[in-house]
Amino acid sequence: MVDRFGRSLDCLRISVTDRCNLRCRYCMPTEGFPLASPDEMLSFDEIVAVAEAALRLGLTRLRLTGGEPLLRPSLERLVSRLASLPGLTDLALSTNGILLADQAGALAAAGLQRVNVSLDTLSPARYRYLTRGGDLSRVLQGIAAAREAGLWPIKLNCVVHQSAAEPDAQSVAAFAAREGLEVRFIPRMDAATGIFSVVQGGSGGDCPRCRRLRLSCTGLVRPCLFSDLGFSVRQWGPEEALRRAIAEKPAAGGPCTHNWIRAVGG
Ligand code: 5AD
Ligand code: SF4
Repeated sequence: MVDRFGRSLDCLRISVTDRCNLRCRYCMPTEGFPLASPDEMLSFDEIVAVAEAALRLGLTRLRLTGGEPLLRPSLERLVSRLASLPGLTDLALSTNGILLADQAGALAAAGLQRVNVSLDTLSPARYRYLTRGGDLSRVLQGIAAAREAGLWPIKLNCVVHQSAAEPDAQSVAAFAAREGLEVRFIPRMDAATGIFSVVQGGSGGDCPRCRRLRLSCTGLVRPCLFSDLGFSVRQWGPEEALRRAIAEKPAAGGPCTHNWIRAVGG
């Protein structure tokens, strides 16, 4: 499906929960933030219906995100339903890796193809600081388990403050080189100011080439991470919500009032 700026959309990023088990400093406010109530959250049936509609419209790739997607109970049951949909060429998941060691085998068996893991430093103390309490060793075990399970290629998402030359980013680059993993350096973004830039080694932030749509865990199809536009699949039905999002996908992102980078996994 080609949008009005000639971009052929290929990927739907599906947020399966807005919960997270980390509190990364660039992502989470210190105070609480509102979470969706259980009846607002899309069921697996609803998510599958949106995915089917997206594939019918010509998208070919699906990525599961959060929050932290591995917090969604029985995620492997959703994965196995998505994996068998006609028209799908790529089924991936973005995770912080904390729960990956427990779930990598079941997810791979269910048909997940690959994972991207968020990793901003290789220092256990810096990791604990940046994530407000996270245990780096669990992420490293998760990456090992994903490799073991055949979830490949594994890509690392590394958020940088200034540049990829800073020590935390360099430690991740060295780890990636050692382990044969790809790494993408993601400049820290700020939705309120609309400040974002192109992701090094990835496709994020490159508006003229953006081929993504997002589905929030409450059922809004979002055409752009830096826009307040959203079309409810419960209000419009999956296909019409997707069509409207595609029709209104902006040429480029800008300042917006929401702060849901967290809730849609970037
Ligand atoms: N800037 C850049 N990326 C962010 N993420 C969350 N908050 C931000 C932010 N302010 C993204 C990162 C992280 C993922 C879980 O969400 O990619 O790895
Ligand atoms: Fe959770 Fe990712 Fe936000 Fe960290 S950046 S708090 S892992 S959603």
